[in-house]
Amino acid sequence: MNLDLYILGAGNVCSALIDNLANRGFVIDNHNISIKLIANSRKHIFNKKGISLSDLRLFLNRRVISGQSSNINLTDNLNRKLDNRSIIIDVTASDNTTETLLYGKKSGYNIVLANKKPLVKSQADFNSITKGNTGYRATVGTRLTIISQIKSGDISANNIEYAYGCFSGSLGYIFQKVNEGTPFSEAVKFAHKNKYTEPNPKEDLSGYDVARKLLIVMRTMGLKAEMDNINITPVFPEKFNGYNADKFINNCKELDNAIKDMADRASKENKVLKYLAWYRDGNLNAGITAVDKESAIGKQIGSEKLFVYKEMLSETDNSIKATEAGAGPVATAKDIILDIEDIIQLD
Ligand SMILES: NC(=O)c1ccc[n+]([C@@H]2O[C@H](COP(=O)([O-])OP(=O)(O)OC[C@H]3O[C@@H](n4cnc5c(N)ncnc54)[C@H](OP(=O)(O)O)[C@@H]3O)[C@@H](O)[C@H]2O)c1
Repeated sequence: MNLDLYILGAGNVCSALIDNLANRGFVIDNHNISIKLIANSRKHIFNKKGISLSDLRLFLNRRVISGQSSNINLTDNLNRKLDNRSIIIDVTASDNTTETLLYGKKSGYNIVLANKKPLVKSQADFNSITKGNTGYRATVGTRLTIISQIKSGDISANNIEYAYGCFSGSLGYIFQKVNEGTPFSEAVKFAHKNKYTEPNPKEDLSGYDVARKLLIVMRTMGLKAEMDNINITPVFPEKFNGYNADKFINNCKELDNAIKDMADRASKENKVLKYLAWYRDGNLNAGITAVDKESAIGKQIGSEKLFVYKEMLSETDNSIKATEAGAGPVATAKDIILDIEDIIQLD
C-alpha cells in the first residue's frame, strides 16, 4: 500500500521529518511514502507522482524549483480523488491552517499535527479535525504519551478529580532553579541564552502555551471547553506585554523579590513552586502554584515533562512521563512518525 503525505510547513520540524523518512528509504511498515505537496506560508509545490528528495531539500532551503512553485490555492491540490491512504501533516506554527484541515477532513484525508493552534480554536473545529484518524501527540509535549494513553486507555474528564500538567521544559527548568535559590531573572537569562525558551521568553512565561496544551488534553478526555474558560495568570505583570526579548529579560529583575518570597513561603510548608496548567473542581487554570514536595507533581525535576491525574475512585495519582528528555525537531518528527504508524495500523 502507498501512503501520500501533504505537508503544510517547511521549517525545522518538516526538515527533521524528511530526514527521518529519507533514512527509512521513504518506507514505514512496508508502506511506500510519497510526499505529494509541501507548503510554506507563501508557496507550495505539488507533484502527483511524488516530489523528489532533491526538490524537497531545495524547497526547504527556500530555493525556487523551476516550473513547480506556485501560489495557487492549496485546496485546489487537495481537491482530487484519493487513490491511496493520504495524510495532511500540519507542521506550521500558524493559526490559519484550520480551513485547509477542515476541508481535507471532509475530503477524506487523515490528519497529523504538531501545530497546536487549530486544536484550540472552537470546540466545534476541534471535534471536526480530530474526528476519525487524526494524530496530534506532538502538540502537548514532545515524547509525552498522554494523548495516545487517553485514546487507548479511555481516561475520561467525567471521571477525573484533578489533573496537573508540567508541559513546558523551559518553565520546569526556570522554577527548579528558583526553588534552589537562584534569582528568577538569572534563571530566565540562563534558559534564554541556552535556547531553552522561545526567542522571547515572554511567550513561555505568559502561560498561554501550557494553557493550550491543557485544553487539548482535556478536550481529548471529552471535556467541552474553550480557551476563554482557562484562568491564565502570566508570571509577569501586564506592562511587560509590550517588551521585546532584551527589555523583557532585563526587567525580570523587578520580579525577583516577589517570586523569592513565594518560593520561601512554599518551602516553609514543605512545598515547591511550579508553573503548571491544571484542571480541578471543573476549572481550568494556568499559573504559578505551590505543590507538596513529596507529591508526584512536586517530584518533577528540571525540564522533565509530566502529566499527573487522579481518577474519582482511585486512592493514588497516576503519572505519565515523557519517554525521552528534551524536545526539538528530531523528537517531534519521531512523534509524527508514531502518529503515521497508528494511521497505517488501521488498514
Ligand atoms: N521545533 C520544535 O522543537 C517543536 C516541538 C514540538 C512542536 N512543535 C510545533 O511544530 C510546529 C513547527 O515548528 P517549527 O519549529 O518547524 O517551526 P518553523 O521552523 O517556524 O516552521 C514553520 C513553517 O510553517 C510555514 N507556514 C506558516 N504559515 C503557513 C501556512 N499558512 N501554510 C503553510 N505553511 C505555513 C512557515 O513558512 P514561512 O517560512 O514562509 O513563514 C515555515 O515553513 C509548530 O507548531 C511548533 O509549535 C515544534
